[in-house]
Amino acid sequence: MQIVAGQVAVITGAASGIGLAMAEHLAARKLRIVAADIDAVGLEQAADRLRSTGAEVLSLRVDVSSRSDIEHLAAQTYERFGAANILCNNAGVVKRGKVWEQTDNDWEWVIGVDLWSVIHGVRSFIPRMLAGGQPGHIVNTASTAGLAAFPMIGSYNVAKSGVVALSETLHHELRMEGAPIGVSVLCPGLVATRIGDSERNRPGHERTAQQAPISMRAPGAVAMQAADVADYVARAIESDQFWMLTHPAYDDFVQRRAAGILNRRDVVEPLPI
Ligand SMILES: NC(=O)c1ccc[n+]([C@@H]2O[C@H](COP(=O)([O-])OP(=O)(O)OC[C@H]3O[C@@H](n4cnc5c(N)ncnc54)[C@H](O)[C@@H]3O)[C@@H](O)[C@H]2O)c1
Repeated sequence: MQIVAGQVAVITGAASGIGLAMAEHLAARKLRIVAADIDAVGLEQAADRLRSTGAEVLSLRVDVSSRSDIEHLAAQTYERFGAANILCNNAGVVKRGKVWEQTDNDWEWVIGVDLWSVIHGVRSFIPRMLAGGQPGHIVNTASTAGLAAFPMIGSYNVAKSGVVALSETLHHELRMEGAPIGVSVLCPGLVATRIGDSERNRPGHERTAQQAPISMRAPGAVAMQAADVADYVARAIESDQFWMLTHPAYDDFVQRRAAGILNRRDVVEPLPI
């Protein structure tokens, strides 16, 4: 899909990090932006900044884990702009802790924000996009953690693996339908954002001390800037690239994981976390 001025981009998690950078990139290219986030204050600041550059922005406070919030987001998008061309299901959180030590509430929070959000997003938007008949592209944000598991973030690994599987399925089904809608799964390595402080926007939860930083650092990898991820995503949309693997430094890790599966024996040595 070519990215063209006047198209509509819907971005969740748009108040910070990668989502904000994607909103800034697409607004600079004169797309109309629907910015959604649970952080009402951060979202308004981001939306005001975008508007000050001349962008047309609809901002909505949304909890992406809520089916009704996402349905409302889709309805509002179509009421205001009559289309959605790019949908970035991007909001995400991470919780540090061993698999057996994370509570029910930890698991539900992470799976809700990282996986149910994408399920809700595609279920609410794709029927409207198909009915509209315009070219479209869905970008689901997973992670390198969706391609190989990292210790101490089990709920995140599970959710992001689910996002990868959902995206592959969606790609096949949209092809079968002959729909003009592409799909990509974004699997970054380390990006300089506020993801390590995910608890700051956790509903109904006393804000706890910032978690120990989660590094997921491949040998030789440096944290990428969110703006560079956004540039990469836009180029990859235009070249209809399914796998958006932004960090070549993790290729060896993914390759060793695949080799381990095929030798039916070895679990890949984890990267330090
Ligand atoms: N930063 C990294 O190193 C990295 C690596 C791989 C994947 N990712 C993924 O990138 C995506 C964006 O994260 P980021 O790194 O920009 O972090 P970030 O914390 O800077 O931004 C995440 C945004 O999601 C919002 N959010 C959290 N819970 C929400 C909810 N229930 N409803 C709506 N919005 C909610 C937050 O308010 C925040 O604005 C996430 O899916 C994350 O898992 C990040």
